[in-house]
Amino acid sequence: MQNNLAELHKRREQARAGGGAKRIAAQHAKGKLTARERLDILLDEGSFEEFDMFVEHRSHDFGMEKQRVPGDGVVTGWGTVNGRVIYVFSKDFTVIGGSLSKAQAEKIVKVQEMAARNGAPIVGLFDAGGARIQEGVDSLAGYADIFLQNVLSSGVIPQISVIMGPCAGGDVYSPAMTDFIFMVKDTSYMYVTGPDVVKTVINEDVSHEDLGGYRVHALKSGVADGAYENDLEALTQVRRLIDFLPSSNRQAPPVRESFDIPDRDERSLDTLVPANPNKPYNMKELILKVSDEADFFEISPDYAKNIIIGFARMDGEPVGIVANQPQVLAGVLDIDSSRKAARFVRFCDAFGIPIITLVDVPGFMPGTKQEQGGLIKHGAKLLFAYAEATVPKITVITRKAYGGAFDVMSSKNIRGDFNYAWPTAEIAVMGPKQAVEIIFRNELGDPEKLAAREAEYKAHFASPFVAASRGYIDDIIMPHGTRRRIVRALKSLKGKELKNPWKKHDNIPL
Ligand code: HXC
Repeated sequence: MQNNLAELHKRREQARAGGGAKRIAAQHAKGKLTARERLDILLDEGSFEEFDMFVEHRSHDFGMEKQRVPGDGVVTGWGTVNGRVIYVFSKDFTVIGGSLSKAQAEKIVKVQEMAARNGAPIVGLFDAGGARIQEGVDSLAGYADIFLQNVLSSGVIPQISVIMGPCAGGDVYSPAMTDFIFMVKDTSYMYVTGPDVVKTVINEDVSHEDLGGYRVHALKSGVADGAYENDLEALTQVRRLIDFLPSSNRQAPPVRESFDIPDRDERSLDTLVPANPNKPYNMKELILKVSDEADFFEISPDYAKNIIIGFARMDGEPVGIVANQPQVLAGVLDIDSSRKAARFVRFCDAFGIPIITLVDVPGFMPGTKQEQGGLIKHGAKLLFAYAEATVPKITVITRKAYGGAFDVMSSKNIRGDFNYAWPTAEIAVMGPKQAVEIIFRNELGDPEKLAAREAEYKAHFASPFVAASRGYIDDIIMPHGTRRRIVRALKSLKGKELKNPWKKHDNIPL
């Protein structure tokens, strides 16, 4: 018996040592934590239970039988975040570069299946060199097994990926099919094919950073939903995000006791919108002032900044917020902002999180670049996402709601539940100047007459009253009472029941 205990102890120590002291030191020297250190930060203290720490690969090719490390380059299991169960896998770069063997894939699939079955989120920490080259097609099959689980779990449990080192080849597609991807600045990069292949195939010289660093994905491509300074910050922010999310689509979002006043007035909001309709203001001010304790977890803060998305709480209840940002491109809807918001709306709808939409939008971005890039299909994604969403939807128009963008931004006619406007709202087919230049084209040579027409149009349409008189707006509210009205609306929608017609699945314009 004593011998068995000693053997277990020895084997556990061996597995915990991963690739050994030298490789761990090299990992630290790059500013990265090890796979196990990362889990210690992500999970509540002492809550981690490991699975499959003795699993080894079964390859004999290319001398691999001499390179067996228990655990085989990934640490898997479950633990808790602020008391709630999550499943995890954490790639260990110190073991054969964290590369994916068939045995490693089986470990990952096991926790993916358990997370889905038990209705708990799964978080994957990536730091690896892609397919285990020595295993060939077995590794490819292993990836496919993981991808399949990603797809089957999509919309069932929240799936979160954190890129904390290299993430290349097969490793990128699993994160791509999860709900959120976060990166660590300067130590992580993700790409389908690395700089060497790029050089061979298209003779282009490019660094890892320029090909797939955080500046590429969190700022330009939109592949990543955020980037953090270091491992510690990334993992603590993921803990924060998990607090807003339900464990699965079978459970309600987690309500937390609020220390904020539900009917708190915010007098400063009465002067948020400038008198000049062309002057920008910061929509984030409104978000922070209406949210519980000004706590807002922003998603993709550095990509398509003309739209703001993220999670907040209203009297303790998680909500998703979508808001045009007049400070960037006047808050216009373009390809990137439409895609960004559409995916977020679908996430909220899949997981029963009510959506608050704050509108100040001059329309869709005109021009050849946008049209050639497929603005019609991309803009339609957001329209589609809002229209199909059955969660409670509350809309507040603060200023402009022009043209098709009025329809798109959770309007009454696509099943907005509560549609409010501030007295400063301007709801019209287009801005007054453009409108009169079209309908009074024959008066273009007479600036005085045109100015009078513009004033007339403005007085008639650039207000919320016409829309309210037709019932497209449920009420015109004082800006300072916005939080109180949203909180009340959410409470009144607790019993909302709405189902879309049966279908195998829809055909969203991808
Ligand atoms: C086997 C690998 C490996 C891999 C790294 N290693 N990647 N072993 N298969 N894919 C091993 C290295 O041989 C090395 O072992 C150890 O891990 C550490 O790697 P280094 O190269 O020393 O580290 P570093 O200099 O930091 O470079 C990291 C790296 C580089 C940029 C990720 O390792 C690299 O380019 N790896 C290959 C990336 C790749 O092309 N993967 C295949 C993608 S194809 P020793 O013992 O020497 O220390 C793919 C297709 C799947 O994934 C498609 C499915 C849809």
